[in-house]
Amino acid sequence: MNTTTADLRYQRGFGNQFATEAVPGALPQGRNSPQVAPMKLYPELVSGSAFTAPRHQNQRSWLYRRQPAVVTGGYAPFEQRYWKSGAASGVDIAPDPLRWHPVPVPGEAEQPLDFVEGLRTVVVNGDPEAQTGASALLYLANRSMQRRALVNADAEMLLVPQQGALRITTEMGVLAVRPGEIALLPRGVAFSVAVDGPSRGYVCENFGAPFRLPELGPIGSNGLANPRDFLAPVAAFDDVQAAEWQILRRFGGRLWRTTQPRTPFDVVAWHGNLTPLKYDTADFMVIGSISFDHPDPSIFTVLTSPSDTPGTANCDFVIFPPRWMVAEDTFRPPWYHRNLMSEFMGLVHGQYDAKPEGFRPGGMSLHDCMVPHGPDAEAFERASTAPLAPHKLENTLAFMFESRWRFKPTAWAMHECGALDTDYTRCWAALEDRFRA
Ligand code: FE2
Repeated sequence: MNTTTADLRYQRGFGNQFATEAVPGALPQGRNSPQVAPMKLYPELVSGSAFTAPRHQNQRSWLYRRQPAVVTGGYAPFEQRYWKSGAASGVDIAPDPLRWHPVPVPGEAEQPLDFVEGLRTVVVNGDPEAQTGASALLYLANRSMQRRALVNADAEMLLVPQQGALRITTEMGVLAVRPGEIALLPRGVAFSVAVDGPSRGYVCENFGAPFRLPELGPIGSNGLANPRDFLAPVAAFDDVQAAEWQILRRFGGRLWRTTQPRTPFDVVAWHGNLTPLKYDTADFMVIGSISFDHPDPSIFTVLTSPSDTPGTANCDFVIFPPRWMVAEDTFRPPWYHRNLMSEFMGLVHGQYDAKPEGFRPGGMSLHDCMVPHGPDAEAFERASTAPLAPHKLENTLAFMFESRWRFKPTAWAMHECGALDTDYTRCWAALEDRFRA
């Protein structure tokens, strides 16, 4: 879509109080809602937190737009049967580790799918009505959203593109996001996704507290994701105000549609700290062992959505990017383990060191609460005999959505997608008893 300002300019910072105007003079100075705003724009407040949330958690932005978002029609249900929300929409499963092969993006001629039509919920937990939990979804898109915008009132959405670059137009401006980068879209902010060919990626729909940067503790003031590497868009608005748009709204675990005779992207200026963001995972400063032992994966946390229990996340977003392995007398892949936290994993590109072959880019795995898992037999053998010289893991990007709430797969993931790896547990079958008394 066209915008009146130069594309692809960004403002740096996570949670900063940004101020941006697409037309000089559009942003009021000194007050948020003057009796008449500059250029006769309508002031509109978007609050991402309760008004009285502690100051460091308070999120809100003031938008100055040509018509307020309320100018729209009534809503009617919109059928999208693959987008599920909440633990109740999952299926009961045995406590087995699960893995899925990549799900191909259908051809546009055979099955046209935009970002919303192509959403497929894979695992669910929590309850959007209770503002707890998260879902992991795939998007399988082969065409752009055409004069259609999505507003998710239930959840913040974290997008992890795996194939194909996205151009995400939001009320606050435009983000261009490619595989290796992520996009964080706040609850309640309208956006529209344009694709450039077949596109696939992962989505975390976060019903809980908004993602924030983790505390750094003894690491100190540097390391992991640095706030300045997050990029917010600058204000930009549609050239064409009068046009029929369809607005899809996720609300109460269901999807609703309406039409309006104007673009939802008519914000000429805005200020505040509630904003879409993007982040390049190549900017993540990896912390790791430089003596011995494999540290907990929490050192790879990019963003965390805390729950009400300190240190026990509603959802963590964790990445396993390229990094040096230098520790001595150490089994370098993850150990065999079972955790309280439930782990949904994806692979953007390359190999994951604990599963060199069977876990493919675009694939997924689920290791739920206390389900044992760890390196497959091949990875174990290789890591037990490898010379422990410094070694660089290159061209790899795996990630994890990790939650205190057990994930349940959807019926689509278990029975319809055709990608469930029914041989997954055999990857550990060759781990024999090697005991020598
Ligand atoms: Fe694990």
